[in-house]
Order: sequence, then C-alpha cells, then structure tokens
Amino acid sequence: MSMLSKNNVRLFKRLYAVAKKPEDLPWNHDQPTHFLNEIVAARPQGGRALDMGCGSGVDSVFLAQNGWDVTSLDFMQEALTMTRRLAAGAGVRLNVYRTDITIWAGDGKFDLILDAGCLHALRLAYCNEYKQKLLNWMDPGADYVLRHAERMHLWQWRPFGPKRIPRRKIIRRFAPELVEHAFDRHIFTGVKLPWGPSFAHTTYWFKQESDSGSPWIINEDNQ
Ligand SMILES: C[S@@+](CC[C@H](N)C(=O)[O-])C[C@H]1O[C@@H](n2cnc3c(N)ncnc32)[C@H](O)[C@@H]1O
Repeated sequence: MSMLSKNNVRLFKRLYAVAKKPEDLPWNHDQPTHFLNEIVAARPQGGRALDMGCGSGVDSVFLAQNGWDVTSLDFMQEALTMTRRLAAGAGVRLNVYRTDITIWAGDGKFDLILDAGCLHALRLAYCNEYKQKLLNWMDPGADYVLRHAERMHLWQWRPFGPKRIPRRKIIRRFAPELVEHAFDRHIFTGVKLPWGPSFAHTTYWFKQESDSGSPWIINEDNQ
C-alpha cells in the first residue's frame, strides 16, 4: 500500500498539471542539491546513485554527468518526462522508473541515496519502514542526502503541505545507524505554494555510523 497521503498525491498532481516546464515547479532549482558537489568530488570514480522523487531530474542529470550510474524514481509521469528531456539534452543516460518509493522493491545497493523532497510527503507511520529500506539499499560507506521541510519558527503551523520535522527529531529518527555529517538550512521566499510564500528547507548529509568521522560543514546562517 502506498504511504503517500491522498492530499499530497492531489497536491503533486495539481502542481504538475500546471507546470509546462521545470521552472514552473515551486521547488525548482538549477544547481545540484547541497552536498552533491562534495560527494561527487570525494568519489571521482563515481558510483551507483538512487534519486528518490527525482522531479525534473536536475540532480540525477548532475550525477550522471559526473560519471555516476543513476536510478531516478518518481510516481508522476510529468516528472519523468521532464527528467528524460533534461537527460537527453545533457547527453546522459539514466535508469528512469515510474514508481512510488514506498512500494518499490529496490534494485541492489547504492553508494548514494538522495531524497530531495520525498520523505516529508509521506505518512509518518511509514518512517520506520523507510529507514529499514534505506539501510538495506545502502552499500557500506554509502552516503544519504535528505532535503526536508522545516518550520521557520515555533509558531508557524499549518495542517497541510510537507511535514516540518525539526532537526533533532530527524537526527534521532536515523540514529544510531546513520549520523549527521553536514547540515544546511535555507529559507525560500516569494514561492507560490498553497501553504504560504516562504518556507525553510533543511538538507542533511548522513553517513553510516562506522564511517562518520567528525562533521565538517554546519551552516545555520539562515536560521
Ligand atoms: C519536492 S519535489 C522535488 C523534486 C526533485 N527531487 C528536486 O529536487 O527538484 C518531490 C518529488 O518527489 C515525488 N514524490 C513524492 N513522493 C513520492 C513517492 N512516494 N514516490 C515517488 N515519487 C515521489 C514528487 O512527484 C515530486 O516530483
């Protein structure tokens, strides 16, 4: 059974129905998600990457351009059309599948798993299963990058839209197997979203406990 809430399915359908191009999507970005540059630099030989909820494919294409073997998943056909178009324009090949990550059976192990905007759309009840799948799909030494929504301040509360889970809870949720290696918080303003024009995005780079070393980037400038 899918663990995407009906409201979020409706919301994604509405947003993609009016988006003629990636720039029309409220989360559009033309630069790779935080920490991908560092991860790519650290593994010049590339590796296997899984982009869960690839959207228009910016991150998938970036990774493929850097020699990675990329599997890109999204449940929205429109997202995959944009991803395929971007990959064709960049002259790279991706393994693109239309699926819901909560029912996807998996496809071996990955050196990098990226979730830029998927987990916060899932039912909270699914989180433990999500973590188990994640751990099963990660090769020893693999990286996990998560982009998640966060409340901008304590009194910002809305009953719909992405879950806004605070950093301490995210860290606790993935412990002890995964340890935060780097963190970034970014405030977006002037975005046309039903839950308001500004929101905070947090990005986490997790490493496996045995491989974590000491954290080296902590950016909380935008708090
Ligand atoms: C906020 S958007 C981000 C897209 C992309 N990662 C990016 O950074 O531009 C989230 C994407 O995840 C997809 N998505 C959300 N939940 C999903 C699920 N359970 N399975 C597959 N795709 C999902 C949505 O269709 C959407 O394209």
